[in-house]
Amino acid sequence: MRMDVFDTVRGVQEKISELKQQGYGIGFVPTMGALHRGHLSLVDACTRDNEVTVVSIFVNPTQFNQREDFEQYPRDLDGDIKKLGEAGANIIFTPAEKEMYPEPDNRVFDFDGLDKVMEGKHRPGHFNGVAQIVSRLFDIIRPHRAYFGEKDFQQLVIIRNLTSQLNLDIEIVSCPIVRESDGLARSSRNVRLTEKQRKHAPKIAEAIHKARDLAGDYSVEEVIQSVTEHVNNDPYIDVEYFEIVDEKNLQPIETWDDAYYKRACIAAWVGKVRLIDNVPYYF
Ligand code: PAJ
Repeated sequence: MRMDVFDTVRGVQEKISELKQQGYGIGFVPTMGALHRGHLSLVDACTRDNEVTVVSIFVNPTQFNQREDFEQYPRDLDGDIKKLGEAGANIIFTPAEKEMYPEPDNRVFDFDGLDKVMEGKHRPGHFNGVAQIVSRLFDIIRPHRAYFGEKDFQQLVIIRNLTSQLNLDIEIVSCPIVRESDGLARSSRNVRLTEKQRKHAPKIAEAIHKARDLAGDYSVEEVIQSVTEHVNNDPYIDVEYFEIVDEKNLQPIETWDDAYYKRACIAAWVGKVRLIDNVPYYF
């Protein structure tokens, strides 16, 4: 199957309904473009599981809380389309803002507190914006399966909640974090790091992985304090939060026995670039 690029809702819907009528399974990977190997791992998983792989590229204004971050978000549509062709995607959806939001979206979602911690606490309104765009995209594409990265762990948990509260028959598939060879989680924002900052940034991943290996010998509080101090000691990095949470409800744990499926989640500033990372602490 060749690759088609659509920038209208109508165009993409017509194509997908035609393919559905032929009985094809539709997989969907929503992105904001500036694609790297993290995104492409989702596309790989999608092409493995589905006959048709749809990828959307849309930098969603409603999920940015700073205009500057939205404007500076890297964009490379031609490069993205080329990478997606090589990765075996079949349908690319690249709508303009007016196409996705012909009128302002005033919907307010309730995620039972999942959106009030970590990213949600530090980026108010962010997950409401993510839910606005993802629910619209789901409604347009109506995929059988949709793929999300563990890189944005809180987003993944919230999307599962969204899918179940809207009663959508879409299987949400999660994909592991893809890292650079020095451990830094791949992110579209990494290109905004200076050479010096880029050299220091892997300290974030290193700290949360090392702490996991030592965690059993220390209390939760001690681990949190030691990771935060260790990363903050780097003159190029400022920790915004570091939390160890129950994967189910994203609430911070107090003792290691509070949950089996625990996840250590960090956000840190490297200069003007905000990076996030996380790792499972299953023990
Ligand atoms: P974006 O940041 O472009 O990410 C698109 C998808 O790629 C997300 O599911 C994200 O978790 C995944 N991803 C990014 N870097 C990754 C990495 N290093 N390893 C594995 N997966 C990675 O997330 C968004 O866009 C938006 O919020 C979106 C869902 C598209 C809604 O606008």
